Amino acid sequence: DCMTSRHLIKLPGLIDVHVHVREPGATHKEDYASCTAAALAGGVTLILAMPNTNPAVVDEESFLTVKKLAKEGARCDYGLFVGASSDNASSISELANEAAGLKMYLNETFTTLKLNDLSVWNKHLTHWPRKAPLCVHAESQTTAAIILLASLANRPVHICHVARKEEILVIKTAKEKGLKITCEVCPHHLFLSTKDIPKLGANKSQVRPMLVSAEDQQALWDNIHVIDCFATDHAPHTIEEKLSSNPPPGFPGLETLLPLLLDAVNEGRLTMEDLINKLYRNPRRIFSLPDQYNTYVEVDMDEEWTIPEAMPYSKARWTPFAGRKVRGAVHRVVLRGEVAYVDRQVLLQPGYGQNVREWDKKLFAPLPSDSRPSSALDRPISPLPHQNEYDTD
Ligand code: DOR
Ligand code: ZN
Ligand code: ZN
Ligand code: ZN
Repeated sequence: DCMTSRHLIKLPGLIDVHVHVREPGATHKEDYASCTAAALAGGVTLILAMPNTNPAVVDEESFLTVKKLAKEGARCDYGLFVGASSDNASSISELANEAAGLKMYLNETFTTLKLNDLSVWNKHLTHWPRKAPLCVHAESQTTAAIILLASLANRPVHICHVARKEEILVIKTAKEKGLKITCEVCPHHLFLSTKDIPKLGANKSQVRPMLVSAEDQQALWDNIHVIDCFATDHAPHTIEEKLSSNPPPGFPGLETLLPLLLDAVNEGRLTMEDLINKLYRNPRRIFSLPDQYNTYVEVDMDEEWTIPEAMPYSKARWTPFAGRKVRGAVHRVVLRGEVAYVDRQVLLQPGYGQNVREWDKKLFAPLPSDSRPSSALDRPISPLPHQNEYDTD
């Protein structure tokens, strides 16, 4: 395909702040090697991995286990979340400098980490360092509840996978009041709705939050300025599991993230500036992520293709976007000076990826009598790589 005329654009290496890698415990669904191959194929050079593994990441021992697995398996860079449990609020903050952030599950989903007790929510909100990222799975009324508690505790909170009109509107109002609330929205809530359930079938459609109505979806697009990040919530389950009598919720999303969003840019529904803000600048700011030197993605804005039944790298072996025609494709990815992906081939090996929290230790706990800013949130973000736009033939 290098023979045809193409319209290539250079973007920064993209950041997906919400990824379920499934290692340890469910490597038939995904592991570090397959998940980070899928990430690179989607133009993502840095993933933040969720803690609802088996065992879940809730203490020093489980954190060490996942750190070792990620170090051996990852092809792209990463950060690792720790999970809030009913009894780890006072101990887990010891890992704040090393973790991507703390994740709290406040509604029913594919996890053993659901927290029911309001006083436990509060304990986590007050114990976890204010400058370290804290993410919540909080749907509908729970969104309002956690915004109030975060406000009372005077701390920032990031709300995962906002999907409903009522959620984006309460977040909008909270931001207007000056509350430190940020949020992410997933491609499957922007590009699929309840209208797609007949075609997908009830089983494959299972995801939390559930696919939303056309009205909810329109509210997400109408309030695109309220959305801080796009994140996949890449939640691979195998096609066999999805078609079983008790299908687990979740969609793979890494390999289709950028094609769907480039298509929206081509259609004029999204600006490239918005795309870069929500997949690079805002994730870096909200999660205090360092610059990945000499890292970029070349996308072909004109390549037209149809999303197949399964994308090549995830072990999920299915995608909810199968059959969708898109214009826009990832052409080449360079990560820290190495070609990571070109013409549909992932070239980096497991073990190349690095834990970005090891680049910048003591992020959230200032050393005594140290005059440096206490958080990377206070530091300026280094400029974007040049956006070279060029046509080749
Ligand atoms: O659909 C989902 N799947 N939502 C979640 O919150 C968890 C995820 C998973 O881990 O499978
Ligand atoms: Zn080529
Ligand atoms: Zn969730
Ligand atoms: Zn998730």
